[in-house]
Formats: sequence, C-alpha cells, structure tokens
Amino acid sequence: MFTAKKLRQQYIDFFVSKGHKQISSASLVPQEDPTVLFTTAGMHPLVPFLMGEKHPMGLRLVNAQKCVRTGDIDEVGDCSHLTFFEMLGNWSLGDYFKKEAIEWSFEFLTKVLEIPLDRLAFTCFEGDADAPKDEEAAGIWKVLGVPEHRVFFLPKKDNWWGPAGETGPCGPDTEMFYIHDVEQFDTVAKGSKEGFQEADKLKLMVEIWNDVFMQYNKQADGSFVPLTQQNVDTGMGLERTLCVLNGYDNVYETELFKPTVDKIKELATVQDDIQSLRIIADHTRTMTFMAGDHVRPSNMGQGYVMRRIMRRAIRHGKKIGIEQHFLGELARIIIDQYSDIYPELGQHREEMLKAIKDEEDRFTKTLTQGLKEFEKLAKQIQEEGQKTIPGDQAFHLYDTYGFPIEMTDDLAKENDLEVDLQGFEKAFEQHQDLSRTASAGIFKGGLADHSDESKRLHTATHLLHTALRRVLGDHVEQRGSNITKERLRFDFTFERKMTPEEIQQVEKLVNDAVQAKIDVYFKEMTFEEAQKVGAIGLFEYKYGDTVKVYFMGDYSTEVCGGPHVDNTGELGGFKITKEESCAAGIRRIKATVAANQ
Ligand code: SER
Repeated sequence: MFTAKKLRQQYIDFFVSKGHKQISSASLVPQEDPTVLFTTAGMHPLVPFLMGEKHPMGLRLVNAQKCVRTGDIDEVGDCSHLTFFEMLGNWSLGDYFKKEAIEWSFEFLTKVLEIPLDRLAFTCFEGDADAPKDEEAAGIWKVLGVPEHRVFFLPKKDNWWGPAGETGPCGPDTEMFYIHDVEQFDTVAKGSKEGFQEADKLKLMVEIWNDVFMQYNKQADGSFVPLTQQNVDTGMGLERTLCVLNGYDNVYETELFKPTVDKIKELATVQDDIQSLRIIADHTRTMTFMAGDHVRPSNMGQGYVMRRIMRRAIRHGKKIGIEQHFLGELARIIIDQYSDIYPELGQHREEMLKAIKDEEDRFTKTLTQGLKEFEKLAKQIQEEGQKTIPGDQAFHLYDTYGFPIEMTDDLAKENDLEVDLQGFEKAFEQHQDLSRTASAGIFKGGLADHSDESKRLHTATHLLHTALRRVLGDHVEQRGSNITKERLRFDFTFERKMTPEEIQQVEKLVNDAVQAKIDVYFKEMTFEEAQKVGAIGLFEYKYGDTVKVYFMGDYSTEVCGGPHVDNTGELGGFKITKEESCAAGIRRIKATVAANQ
C-alpha cells in the first residue's frame, strides 16, 4: 500500500533536494488579509510573497497545506471531490519558472512516484486577449517525451488559476491528469478536439497536479497587470494522488478514509447509500480539521460553514439509519489518525470534541421534527402541482429547526423541488439582524489588496492585538482577521462581552501608539529567537521555521507576513465600531482607522 505519510515525505524530500525549504501548513482560517473564509490552496498564505515581499525562508518553498473548498460541496459523494484535502505544493517566488517547474513535476511523477508515462495527460492554456497561448509549457512537456496527443490546449476556465479572490496573483497553468482508461482515452483524444469535452475529461481522467505560472496581478477593474516577479505555484491533491497510486477508483478507499468509512458502516443500518456514506466521511473530516483550527459552529462566517457541513452530515447519518450521536466518535478516529502530522488536532482534543458534541446535541433535538415538517410541506406543494418551496417556509425551517438553507435546498432537490432562495433571503433579512455571511456573497470575496488603506488597517490589527492582551489578559489569542478597504475585523478568544471601559482602554492604547509615531520594521529570525523576543502570533509555526517578526516599539512584536505602513504615524484615529460574540468563547471586533491627513 502506498501511504499518505510516504507520499507527503517523498514530495517534501524531492523538492528539498531541489533547493526548497519546507514551511508549515498554515491554519485553515486565513490569519492575515484574506477576505475569503478558508485557506483554499497552498498559495493563499503566500500571497504577499507572490506579490513581491521577501519570504524569510527564501525563494523556493514546499509544504503540505490543509485546504477547505466549499465550492465543491455538491460534488462530494463522487470519486474524488472533497471539502477538505491536503495540497502538496512547491513554490518559486520569482526564482525558477516554467522549465524547471515542469521538468521537476515530470521527474517526480515518472521517476519518484513511477507513474507510467502512458497514464499521464497534460493541459496547457490556449491563449486569449489577456495572455498568449502557452506553447512554451506544451513544448517542455513534449521535449520530455510526452506524445503530441497527450497535450491539450484549453481555455481560461480550465487552464488559468487564480486569483484566489477577486484580485491578486494569477496566471496560466498546466495541469497533470492520471488517465483511468488509456485505450478509451486515446480513442477520444485522437479524434476531434470537440470530442474532448469537460465531461469526457472527468470521466476518463482525474487531475492530480497543477503548475501555475503566476505572473499577473488581476486588478479590481478586471485587467491583468504583469507582476514584478514570475512565480510558480503548484498544487498536488494528496488524496487523489494516493488513490491513483494505489489503483483505487475513489478516494474513500484510501487509508485516510478507511477507518472512518468502516466506523460509519458499523453504525449504519442502510449499507447501500454510498453517497451518504461518503458525504459523512468527507464532512466529518472537514469538521474535525476546522475544529482543530478553532472554528466553532455558529451563524457567521467560518462557523456557519462548519455548522452547515455538520448538520448535513447528521442528516445523512439519519438517512442511513444511524440512530445515535456519531460525530464525536468519528472525530476521535480522525484526530488519532492525523495528529502526528497536524499536532493542533491533538492539542485541543477535548475542547474540539465538546464543541462537536454541543452542536450535535443542539441539532439532533430539532432534526426529526424539522424533517417531518419538511415532508409535510413537500407533499402539500406537490399535491398543489407546484415546484417551489416559498422563501418564508424555508426560513421557518431555518429559524425553528435549525435547517441551514443549503440543507433545505438539498432536501428540495431530492424531492424534485426547488427553493425560492431570494424569498428566503428576504425573510432572513426581515427577521434577523445576523451577519449575512451565509449568503453567497462572502464566498466570492477577494484577498485584500496592498492599498494604503489595507496597510493601515493591517498595522492597526497588530496594535489592537497587543492592546487587547494588555487590557484583557495574556490568554487572549487571535482567531482570525479580515480586512476590507473600510474596516478591520479581528476575532479573538475571550469569554464575555467587553465593558465600555475596556473598549475605551483598548482604543486609547492603539491611539497612543499612533500618536507616538513609531517606526515599523521587521527582522527575520528562527522560531526559537522569535519566542525569546516574546513575539505573539507564533501559533502557526513550529521549530525549524524562519519567521518575519514585525516590531513597533514597545507596542507590538508579532510574527506576520505584511503588508504594513513604515511608521504608526501614518495611521489616523482608531475606533472600535463593534464588539460582539462570534462563536462560543470568541469575540469579534470591527474597527476603523482614519487616514492621517
Ligand atoms: N493554486 C493552484 C491550485 O489550487 C496550485 O497550487 O491548483
């Protein structure tokens, strides 16, 4: 059996032998500027460095990164799509480019993993008004010995990656596929190119790796401006690659899922609902990793996504006849399985399990009743010859029985119905003063830019972090931050509402630092040195890492990637506009910084 441990190690060793430095997996919750909810690729935490900042570990990096992609949630249940996965990645930050990237990908696939060339196919960017056809990448594959009919040119929707949000680094990519059925593939591929459509592609092969040539910065106006440096960003799907290396036809057969799948089968009374079984296996793993990065089920942001996938898993559990509570049991298996690679899972084990149990308790109470209600409703609508579940009814299921709208939508589809989503939104807005992050908008958010506004807000985040620790105590820890042009948002661990006095004190500390006009500078140092100088924000790193520590006089010493202003005097008045609960034990602050006129 080819194990995940072996694949991770071979990947890291290979790229280390090519001059790369291994970096840790960042948290699933973007800690710096991103306005996306989760880390969706290894490049996410590296955005500042792809844009030109100097990375403390050098120009060549490699890692295994935890990723969550909720965009694929409807595909989960097929052979290869997952909401959580590990991405093996290597990066060139303005160092090597297409030739080395492709040669090394080829060497790793064919020499280290020993995948027969006959099983591989490659796609390259076909060119458009924004960037030329990537003859160069295709040429490199061919020089390496890839036959003509195994290299395809596809449009931007297939062979372009990024930006992760609306703006930021991106570029043409070349994707590597493992072919399931060589004979059939070659018949289709040698025929007309039109015959080789997306659907065929997915049936006949699976993407395992992607080399992105990040040389553009997409602007808010939609234009692509060349970046100051040419980067390479690659991502190999660990689970998929493991699956093909072992000759399995779906990822759930791999050792990564086996213990969970076995347990689910043991608990279930219905054994032939493969889709539900896979959904549970996928979602419980995602839930566990989210919990490991301190996400807690809630009605906002990451917490909402976690709630949604947990409730979906519980419902599918019910569908296959699991009567008892089961999320905690599966989480335990997953924690045990992964905590040597991702120690954060083991460190917060009890807290994580408690949060999972509480959510399961909460939802199980209302699920049966809610399902009955839904069935009644569906029947009535069908009898009336209608097709649509009205928005206010969907809202009623949400409000009274805790059915996330996506769940009602799932249920509707299973019954050949649809939901009036706009009507739901309207009812939601009328009834609730909740964050609207559950709606689609949030998932489309872009990475914050490096504008002056975001630099000011980012710098203020450091000052706020320290100020909170001074006023509320050292146990306060950052749990996430997010910046738009208008405001910063900062989530941190704290048990209760802050008093007006505490808020004032925190504001004053930050404003004192602004008025003191302190120079902001950074030093690169080892993890150990950073600990010695008392840097905060080290929780994502481990021994052996080199980190960038930003200093702001006595006001802040914190590990960070940037971007920052050069002097705190560039900030104007700092004001906390909101302090609220965000999830159990986590508070959220929103604050603004005026420009310094
Ligand atoms: N960012 C690219 C991807 O997600 C390569 O890492 O595929």
